[in-house]
Amino acid sequence: MPRRAPKKPAPELDLSAHFLVLADDPVFRDGKGFRSTPLLPRELFPGWPPGTPVELEVGSGKGLFLTHASGAAPDRLFLGVEISLGYARMTAGRLARAEAKNARIIAGDGNVLVRNLFPDACLEGIHVYFPDPWWKARHRKRRVLSDAFLAHAGRVLVPGGLLHVWTDVEEYFGEAMSAAAGTGLFSPPATVAERLAEHDLDYRTHFERRTRLAGQPVWRGLLERTTAPATVARIELPAVPPGAA
Ligand SMILES: C[S@@+](CC[C@H](N)C(=O)[O-])C[C@H]1O[C@@H](n2cnc3c(N)ncnc32)[C@H](O)[C@@H]1O
Repeated sequence: MPRRAPKKPAPELDLSAHFLVLADDPVFRDGKGFRSTPLLPRELFPGWPPGTPVELEVGSGKGLFLTHASGAAPDRLFLGVEISLGYARMTAGRLARAEAKNARIIAGDGNVLVRNLFPDACLEGIHVYFPDPWWKARHRKRRVLSDAFLAHAGRVLVPGGLLHVWTDVEEYFGEAMSAAAGTGLFSPPATVAERLAEHDLDYRTHFERRTRLAGQPVWRGLLERTTAPATVARIELPAVPPGAA
């Protein structure tokens, strides 16, 4: 299904407390490039006590999950990362309107956070809802739920942390569950029962809403991080990218 252009937030909304840009914000920088040192997700929420649980959503789209989850659990921190600048800005607008103090969105590639910036065992939850399926064989490598992403997802989750994967693509779901099992870092997936929506926006995400309203099935998996040691190490980024003087 094609997507409409993201709605621009009202110009009078102040997005500064909710919106970060991975390519620009000084917290992600080190000299001319990305910082090579690890970034604790909680550093992105100044003023919150150490030990406050942080959950990450990769591919937040229009931001329904972040808005609902941060409102429902005000003692937890919710960080979204969305590769489309327009959708990230739209999500920031939604969070600003909701006056969410415990949620922020980063415009950028979730892989950089999970593989390169976050240290081991720093997240209580990772949420990936309706990731783009990239149907063409030559585009498969763009799928978010790759073997490498899942190995790093296991690395950055604390033992007992939860990985939530929902999709309308059965084949992608099956492959992702096998790849997650292959890491040796997760319990077998538990299935999540479908809930009856009580109002028009009572869905986990906009894609869940549109899939269910179209009468299509949704596959939902919940995997718990075990205590097995991580199988990969954080990939440090060069502080100064090659070629930069
Ligand atoms: C099909 S949409 C689903 C959006 C939302 N999760 C939902 O269920 O409504 C997939 C989203 O993931 C984003 N995305 C794709 N690759 C990404 C990446 N590497 N990092 C962050 N976001 C990504 C896309 O821009 C898009 O907004």
